[in-house]
Amino acid sequence: MLRTALLAAARSPQARQLVERTPLAKPVVRRFVAGSSLREAVEVTSTLVADGRKVTLDHLGEDTTDAAQAAATVHAYEGLLDALGAADLAGSAEVSVKLSAVGQSLPKDGEKIALDNARLICEAAAAVGTTVTLDMEDHTTTDSTLGILSDLRVDFPSTGAVLQAYLRRTEQDCRDLSGAGSRVRLCKGAYKEPESVAYQDKSEVDRSYVRCLRILMDGAGYPMVASHDPRLVAIAADLAAGRRTDTYEHQMLYGVRPDAQRAIAAEGKTLRVYVPYGDQWYGYFMRRLAERPANVAFFLRSLATR
Ligand code: FDA
Repeated sequence: MLRTALLAAARSPQARQLVERTPLAKPVVRRFVAGSSLREAVEVTSTLVADGRKVTLDHLGEDTTDAAQAAATVHAYEGLLDALGAADLAGSAEVSVKLSAVGQSLPKDGEKIALDNARLICEAAAAVGTTVTLDMEDHTTTDSTLGILSDLRVDFPSTGAVLQAYLRRTEQDCRDLSGAGSRVRLCKGAYKEPESVAYQDKSEVDRSYVRCLRILMDGAGYPMVASHDPRLVAIAADLAAGRRTDTYEHQMLYGVRPDAQRAIAAEGKTLRVYVPYGDQWYGYFMRRLAERPANVAFFLRSLATR
């Protein structure tokens, strides 16, 4: 119930105003968000890379309903990619993009604007020698996002997809996207979805994750195992037994299980940290609270002790 309430609040403008106006929220947000500026994002990336981890950077923002804001997001990514190139970090850091931040949800021509904008970001990434992964948002956007992915992959074949194991359709999507060169990040899924399209029970989602991961690991693509779940991390090691360690990777979120992140990297495997930065942290932060009730207690305790 708490998860449902938090995920509903993640989409509520009123709740957003309330939480964003609480200045004391910021220090807690910093556990999950690298900072608000490009400089902080590059600093955090540099520290993680020096520690043996790789990075994917997310310029925070979603559900943009203004074309100028979508264009500003593209500029932010272009600036970020330039900065990664200049700091010699592009070999270890890519970017993650939410299509709803670059125009997908605009009422007129949203899909075309998102494709054009995502293409600009892919060009900027290719210019410094790195790539882009398209985040996956709620199920109403899945077909559109996979359609845009397929268009982008014509010119930028290394563009990555995200698939969510909680969706009933995902096993088939894994089959469709398991071909040579296909980079697929498999996660459990972070949105509130109806039973008609998504498994509701945690154990059902976990079983689906294993079925999907098996398909990806048996395929010729590049699976990206995005989970902090120790059981799934262990299962991934079993399923990857016949693979070289440079043909798949693990991914975890900034601020979540950093010891496990270091341990995976120390085994000689690739561990990539998803690092969000920027001012529009509200939706991202609320989804992180919803994933783990203990985070809510942590948040409330921090407010009470300040
Ligand atoms: P689960 O939620 O079962 O957590 C397992 C354990 O991990 C917990 O017991 C706890 O120890 C730790 N943990 C997990 N979440 C935590 C948190 N927030 N705070 C503290 N500890 C936590 N989703 C989506 O819908 N679209 C997307 O594009 C992406 N992209 C993405 C990229 C990357 C790199 C990751 C790691 C995740 C995503 N996600 C996502 C989020 C994903 O769908 C999922 O909600 C979270 O990863 C949590 O699921 P776990 O697999 O970690 O398992």
